[in-house]
Amino acid sequence: MKPVKLGLIGVGTVGASTALGLKNNAVEIARRAGRDIEIVQASRRNIEQGMPAGCENIALTSDPFEVVDNPEVDVVIELIGGYEPARDLVLRAIENGKHVVTANKALIALHGNEIFAAAQARGVNVVFEAAVAGGIPIIKSIREGLSANLIEWLAGIINGTGNFILTEMRDKGRDFDDVLREAQALGYAEADPTFDVEGIDAAHKLCILASLAFGIPLQFDAVYTEGISAVSTEDVVYANQLGYRIKHLGIARRSEKGVEMRVHPTLIPEKRLIANVDGVMNAVLVKGDKLGPSLYYGAGAGADPTASAVIADIIDVARSITTDPQNRVPHLAFQPDQIVELPIVGIEEVTTAYYIRMQVDDKPGVMADITRIMGEREISIEAILQKEPEAGATQATIIMLTQKICEKQMNEALAGIGGLDSVHGEIHRIRVETLDAD
Ligand code: HSE
Repeated sequence: MKPVKLGLIGVGTVGASTALGLKNNAVEIARRAGRDIEIVQASRRNIEQGMPAGCENIALTSDPFEVVDNPEVDVVIELIGGYEPARDLVLRAIENGKHVVTANKALIALHGNEIFAAAQARGVNVVFEAAVAGGIPIIKSIREGLSANLIEWLAGIINGTGNFILTEMRDKGRDFDDVLREAQALGYAEADPTFDVEGIDAAHKLCILASLAFGIPLQFDAVYTEGISAVSTEDVVYANQLGYRIKHLGIARRSEKGVEMRVHPTLIPEKRLIANVDGVMNAVLVKGDKLGPSLYYGAGAGADPTASAVIADIIDVARSITTDPQNRVPHLAFQPDQIVELPIVGIEEVTTAYYIRMQVDDKPGVMADITRIMGEREISIEAILQKEPEAGATQATIIMLTQKICEKQMNEALAGIGGLDSVHGEIHRIRVETLDAD
C-alpha cells in the first residue's frame, strides 16, 4: 500500500517530538497502521531553526499555507495552537480534501462546530485526541470505549500546569509565580500562561469533553470559568487539615435541569484517587450508567505525552483513509444529526458544598451572627474550625464546611455575612465535591 503522507504545521516542542516519534518508531507504527507513514513537508515560523536532528531530510517552509495546499499531503498535522491562523489553515486543508490531526483545544472548543460540519461535508476526518489531557486517550475512551453508557457526569484535572502549581504549593510551600516559571521552562504552560492559571485552557478542554459525553454542540462561552490565581497557600493548608485536597477541576454534569459545565478550584476528599493526582499529571473521572465510575490517568502536558496522542491519531487516520466516511466514528461521538442542544444550568443554579474562610473579630456573638445568616438561607454547616488568634491579635480566622446548597443562596448569605461589622476583608469560598458514585 502507498505510504500516508503528512504535512506538519508547527515544529515546536510537540511538533519536534511527533516528527522524531514517527521516525524512531516507524517500523512499529507501520505494523499497526498497515502502511508506512512519512512527513513530506513541515512549516515553522523560525525557519532558520531547521528540523530536529534526525529529521533534516523533511522539506521545510515558513509558510504553513504551502503545506495545506501541497497536493502530495494526505493528512495535515496542525500543532501551532491558538485560534488564528489555525482556523484558516484547518478549513483550507479540509477544503483541499485533506484529513486533519490537531492538538489545538482552543480551536476545537471555539470553532469545532464549523470545522466538523466542513469536514463532514467534504468526507474527511478531523481528530484531536491530544487536545484534552495530553497523552491520556480520554477522547477515544469516551467516544468509543464508553459508548454503551449514558454518561451522567465527569470531573477532571485537565490542566497540567495548574496541577503542578497547586502540588508544589502544597508539598513545598513554593511561591505561585516561581512554580509557574518552572512550568513554562518545562514546556507545560500555554504560550499565554494566563490561559493556564485563569482556567481558560481547562474550559476549552471541558467544553470538548462535555460535548463528547452528552452529544451537545461545543459551547465554550457556556463554561463557568475560575482559575487558580485566587487559591492561597493558607487554603491549601487548611484544606489538608480538614482531610481534603484542593484541585482545579473541570466538571460537566447532566441533570433534569440541563447540563452544568464549570471549571474552578475544588476541595476533594483526600481518600479519592483523583485527589492524589499530583504534578503535571491529569486524570478524568467519568460516571456512566453501566460502567459506574472509571478513572483515566496520565501525563497531561509535555512534548512526548502530547506527541503520543498526536501519533495515535495519525495512525487512526491512516487506518480510516480507505473507509466510507459515513462509517467512521463521528467527530463528536454522536452522529452529526443527533447532536442536540440541552439547556445550560447557570452557576447560580448549581448545588455544591462549600469551604469558606473569613477573618472575624474575636469576640462573643460573632459566630452566632454568622450562623444565623446561614440558617436563614437554609445553609447547614458541616464543620467549623477556628484558628486561635496570635498573642495580642483581636481577629481570628474561621473556616467552615457547609452541606450542599444552591450557589444563589450561598451568594446571598455571603453578601449578608460580608456586611457584618465584625467580618473583615474578603470572604474566601471554594466549592467542595465529594465525587462519590452518585
Ligand atoms: N498548558 C496545558 C496544560 C498543556 O498545562 O495542561 C496541555 O494541554
